[in-house]
Amino acid sequence: MIIAANLKTNLTRKQTSKYVDEVERFLNANNISQEVLVFPAMSSLNPHAGKLTIGAQNAYPVLNGAYTGEIGLEHLEEFGIKTILIGHSERRHILGETQESITKKFDFYKNLGFRIVYCIGEPLEIRKAGEDELLKYLDTQYAGIDLNYENLVIAYEPVWAIGTGLTPTLNDIEVLHTKLKKKSKAPLLYGGSVKVTNAKDVLALKNVDGILVGSAALYAEHFCSMINYAQALNK
Ligand code: PGA
Repeated sequence: MIIAANLKTNLTRKQTSKYVDEVERFLNANNISQEVLVFPAMSSLNPHAGKLTIGAQNAYPVLNGAYTGEIGLEHLEEFGIKTILIGHSERRHILGETQESITKKFDFYKNLGFRIVYCIGEPLEIRKAGEDELLKYLDTQYAGIDLNYENLVIAYEPVWAIGTGLTPTLNDIEVLHTKLKKKSKAPLLYGGSVKVTNAKDVLALKNVDGILVGSAALYAEHFCSMINYAQALNK
C-alpha cells in the first residue's frame, strides 16, 4: 500500500528533518514494506536516502527560468526528488490552478518518468448534486491526464473532507473507489480527514490502495501508527 503525508505549509526545515528521521527509524525498526511518501514544504526539502521517499508538493513545468516564486526541475534534481504531488485541491481552489496548467505539469513530469500523485476531488455542492454529477465532475479533473501512465498514483480527496474532520461514509468511499478503478488501474489513495482513529477502516476497504494524510500526519508518531495499520493489512 502507499501511505503518504502531505505536510503542506507546516514544519520548518529543522522540524522536518526530525520528522523524517523519526519515520525512517520506524520503517527500519519494523521492517515496513509499504511505500511511504512524505511531501514537505519546499523550503524544508533535504536530500534523503532511505526507505521513505521525499516528494515535492508542487513544481513548475520548466528546467529553470523567469517564473517568480516557482521551482523547476533543476531545483528538484538538487534534492534527488523524483516524486511530485499534482492537482491538490488547495492548489486548484485557493491558488487558482486550472486543469490546463495542471495538465502541463503532469505532461512535463511524466515525460521525465516522475512518480506522480495526482489529486482529484469534488466540492460539497457537487457531492450534494448526486452520483452522476460527482462522476462527471471528477471526469473533468481527468481531462488531459494519461490515466495509463505507469508511474501514476491517484488520490481521491473530497474537498469538503480536507481538514474538516468530515469524511464520506466507508461505504461511500468504497463505492466511489470501485467506480474510479474502472477508469484507471493506478493505485488509488483516499484522502480527507484520515486520522489514527479511522485509518484502519479506510485502508481495509476494497479498492483503497493507500491514504494521503494532511493534518493527522503532522505528528510522526501518528503517521507511523497509520503506516503500521497498512503493514498489518499488507494488501
Ligand atoms: P487532511 O488533508 O488530512 O488534513 O484532511 C489531506 C490532504 O489535503 O491531502
